[in-house]
Amino acid sequence: MAIAAESEGLGICYIGGIRNNPQAISDLLRLPAHVYPVFGMCLGYPAHDPDVKPRLPVEAILKEDHYDEDHEQVVAFDDTMQCYYRERRSGNKDTDWSRNLTPLFDTKLRPHMRDFLVERGFEMK
Ligand SMILES: Cc1cc2nc3c(=O)[nH]c(=O)nc-3n(C[C@H](O)[C@H](O)[C@H](O)COP(=O)(O)O)c2cc1C
Repeated sequence: MAIAAESEGLGICYIGGIRNNPQAISDLLRLPAHVYPVFGMCLGYPAHDPDVKPRLPVEAILKEDHYDEDHEQVVAFDDTMQCYYRERRSGNKDTDWSRNLTPLFDTKLRPHMRDFLVERGFEMK
């Protein structure tokens, strides 16, 4: 859907934030048991045409036969992303890639999801 929209000149944004209140979304959409909202998607004609977001070099992600850590690549990418965030957010976002990701790993995001999924009929171990 994202690719189809973008090929027609639309922009998209996934919205995982709909899992902040999954019950309200389920009620609104009258979702049956064993169905739950994963993410929403905004569609629209973009007001801006931002630069392509930088990506970690493929060598830092794709490994063959064994894993080796690419600390230098990550440090370099942190610098790249810090510049990108500063430019993209007019200096309002002063962070880098590693620091930006940390809360995803050291915080338990959306702890209500477990009870919600059980209630929707998913058995959890
Ligand atoms: C599964 C998923 C959920 C997302 N949820 C949100 C959201 O709730 N709010 C938001 O502003 N952006 C959301 N985004 C957009 C990201 O914050 C980010 O802008 C977008 O993924 C582009 O960065 P990327 O190309 O590195 O993925 C989401 C993206 C993904 C993939």
